[in-house]
Amino acid sequence: MAPRILLPISLVLLHAHALAAAAFAPGELVRATRGEMLQLEGKNYVGAAKGQEFPVLLQDTARGLIVVPFYKKDGAPVSVTIPADAVEAAPHDGWLDLLASLEAFRDQRYDLARQLLARSAQDEKYRALATALAPRLQGAISSRSAASLGTLRETATQLEKLGHPCLALALDEGVDRLGGTTAPATKLNRAELSQRVATSTRALARTRQAVAMRCLINANDEIHTGLEAEPNRPELKALQIKVQKDIEEAAQKCADADRMRRIFKGTPHALTALEMGLKLCADYPQLIALKKEMSGAFEERTAPPVTPAFLTAAGGGDAKVLTEGHSLYTNRCTECHDLELIDSRSVSSWEKMVGNMSRRAGIDGEQQARIMAYIMAAQKVVESKPQE
Ligand code: HEC
Repeated sequence: MAPRILLPISLVLLHAHALAAAAFAPGELVRATRGEMLQLEGKNYVGAAKGQEFPVLLQDTARGLIVVPFYKKDGAPVSVTIPADAVEAAPHDGWLDLLASLEAFRDQRYDLARQLLARSAQDEKYRALATALAPRLQGAISSRSAASLGTLRETATQLEKLGHPCLALALDEGVDRLGGTTAPATKLNRAELSQRVATSTRALARTRQAVAMRCLINANDEIHTGLEAEPNRPELKALQIKVQKDIEEAAQKCADADRMRRIFKGTPHALTALEMGLKLCADYPQLIALKKEMSGAFEERTAPPVTPAFLTAAGGGDAKVLTEGHSLYTNRCTECHDLELIDSRSVSSWEKMVGNMSRRAGIDGEQQARIMAYIMAAQKVVESKPQE
């Protein structure tokens, strides 16, 4: 099944209008310039991390929103929005230009296709391919002759053999549209090809999501799925290198934590290594198991409960406010990620963080004040503990 992005009718109708004034064209890759909430039908849906990349489905200029695809846990795609002022064009390279060029050709935006192909040729890695494609595309666009269209069919077959199904498919679909009924028959198994491209495209989107959430084990699985369908997909290969390196580093932190907790007075170091490991890779099974094993000690340093001993160590405070703060902190602030060690940043850094996160998570000013009161008291408590 090809993943279909379900657009609400109102957005489909906006499409034509948005295209006219769009700063970002459909298919273009953008990335978040700040942490932001993605919205589904106008409601906060899921957090997007700074740097997370999305292909644009369309831009709603009237409302200042970009519509992008998001895959739910069960794999179903939905269209979500991100404010246009929270994204910028993602850095492009020869590959992205090449792919975007053939997609523009497929969509009969021939000027754009030519421009992108010329830009792709500036990248040494794709120069040969781009310069080989340019005259063939140009020839077919200007003459629409059976011979020139036949050449493009051949080219699509070659691109597939080079391990680039997504290029082959866009080109071959473009030939259908350019040639109409006069186009020679395709030489590709289009049903199979479409399925492979759909699989790798979906895997790429889900890899980006998983990386943003630091779920690298999940990301690695998605990368495998994607590369099985499309073995030379450069975006997946680039992500694979990064993901594997970070997983290795997380494994190292896990080994450090395990070693530390076995030695006398090693617990604080073990907790620090554990936290660093989980920040790299939140779904690393051995780190999760170790965290569970050390949950008592971990809780004492991330979110100690408000007890009489806590109040004494904190030098007083309103027990009711602090208990509420603890509850908000451990419930609301864990919706998207784990808690940090409470002594890992300064009060002013926590203030900034709590403000920034609350804006996204819809936590009001009064609740923020309680969370901050709790964090400040808990820092005193953690710091008063002898580092055993
Ligand atoms: C809706 C999801 C969501 C909620 C709820 C949330 N966060 Fe976050 N948080 C994120 C994301 C996504 C990141 C990754 C970095 C970014 O986007 O800024 C993050 C990162 C962080 C970081 C690490 C930043 C860094 O520079 O390493 C801290 C600390 C943090 N959050 C604290 C909190 C606190 C405190 C709360 C509760 C007030 C909270 N978060 C609630 C989504 C959330």
